[in-house]
This record gives sequence, C-alpha cells and structure tokens, in this order.
Amino acid sequence: MIVYRTKNDLTRHLLSWQNEEKTIGLVPTMGALHQGHVSLVEKANGENDIVVVTIFVNPTQFNDPSDLDHYPRTLDRDLELLRNLEADLVFVPSVKEMYPEEDSQIYDLGTLDEVMEGKHREGHFNGVAQIVSKLFLLIRPRRAYFGQKDFQQLVIIRRLVEIMEMDLTIVQCPIIREKDGLAMSSRNTRLSKEERKLAPFIYETLNHAREKMDTLTPTQLKDWVTLQFKKQPEMELEYFEIVEDKSLTPVNEWDETVNKVGCIAVQLNGVRLIDNLNFD
Ligand code: PAF
Repeated sequence: MIVYRTKNDLTRHLLSWQNEEKTIGLVPTMGALHQGHVSLVEKANGENDIVVVTIFVNPTQFNDPSDLDHYPRTLDRDLELLRNLEADLVFVPSVKEMYPEEDSQIYDLGTLDEVMEGKHREGHFNGVAQIVSKLFLLIRPRRAYFGQKDFQQLVIIRRLVEIMEMDLTIVQCPIIREKDGLAMSSRNTRLSKEERKLAPFIYETLNHAREKMDTLTPTQLKDWVTLQFKKQPEMELEYFEIVEDKSLTPVNEWDETVNKVGCIAVQLNGVRLIDNLNFD
C-alpha cells in the first residue's frame, strides 16, 4: 500500500494506472476509521481495479471550531487497518496541500443544503463540496463510495457530480450499526461509557416512530419524537425530519408514491450524532 502526502506524488502515480485504463474506486474519509469505512473499502475493492482512500479532516466543513479540534485523529491505526484491507493507495494531505489559498468557491446546491444539517451547520455542505470536488478532480475515480449514515451528504454529492458534469458513479453503502443499533461513527469514540449506553435510544426512537406512521400524521410524529427526547435530560434533539429521498423536501402528508427517509440529529452532552431510517 502506497501512502502519499502531496498532490504531485499522487497524480504522478495515478497517471500510470490511468494509462493502463485501470478503474479507480475512491473512498474519501476523515480518518478515525471504523467498520462503516471498512465496508466502503471492501465494496470498492470488489468493484474496481484500484482502491484509493483519502484521509483528511477538512476544516472548511466544520462550522464549530471546537468540533474540529476534538475530531478524533488515529492515523497510525487507520493506515494499519487499510493495509489489512489491501487498499492500494492512501492520500493523507495537509491542510496547506489541499488549501494553498482560501477556497472561495460557492456551490449552488439548490434547496438541498437548506434543511436539516444545512440549517444547523452553516456552510457545512459548501465545505464538503469544496473538498470532494477537489478530490474528484485530482483522482478522477470511476466510482466513489459514501455511507448512507450521512444521507443528506450523499444526496448533495450526487448533485455535485451533476454540477461538475463528471462521469462518475456515486455508490451508496448501507449504515453499519453496533449490536445495540447505534450507527457507527467516528464521533462515537468521544462518548463516555454512560453516554455510550444512552446513545442507542436514537435508533430505537427512529424505529418506534416508523411503527407509528399508521396512526400519526407527519406533524404528530415529529411532536411525538420531540417529546421522547424531552424525557432524556442528557440528549438534545436538534431535528427530526421525514424527507423525500431525492429532493430532501420535508414530507407533510403521507404519500405512498415517494420514498421517505426519517433523519435525526441529537446532541449527547455536546457530541453530535446523526442517524436515519427509510420510512416506507
Ligand atoms: O463523510 C465524510 O467523512 C466527509 O464529509 C468527507 C466526505 C470525507 C468529506 O470531507
């Protein structure tokens, strides 16, 4: 497995693979890898000649400096894991390497970044679009792999590919969960033992909400979810929305013709956790 830190080294090496017409599968990450990332790398391995993984904690997508400071960084462990998974190349650039100067590019994401995460994390998706577009242009993958846990991100990256007019398939990979249902996330390592015990409540509530679809309207269901979190003093519900899966438009009435996803974000003593579930 080759590890590169500069764009020059990376592109020089990629060129030789591109000349040999090898297909490249890209797994962009911010490190602190877990089984969710493992599933992405394994899928990419099965579908491409070459697998490139990037590890870069992208500052432009953090609206909260403390969240950026506390983001877990476990590079040695990550590289060992990727070696075992037989990734071909890992790109670990510095901030200066990716942003030699400030990136002022603004992406027109329509209304996709006006709801949910976009509402609560100003500028977050523009930052994601900045780094992901740089990686796409640099690596020119045939496929790129993203987990469904960041559902809104996935939809926005599909839009980004349209904006960039790139011939690139975005592969959506299912959420990988702990045994007790908690969606795997790099942020879970920031939970104390007690908080970790409380965290599965998020997924349990999503499931209970889905069971109540037959008897409650979308508005009543949102109120019900809000009430469940009011009873949990350690947790603060940021939002619970049921949205149409492509436009991310909030669903105000049950309609069997559209695919619906229930999305949630919760602060658990300052650690921000998100999850989602298909509501069909
Ligand atoms: O999902 C992530 O880990 C990040 O948002 C991504 C896609 C690697 C961009 O920094």
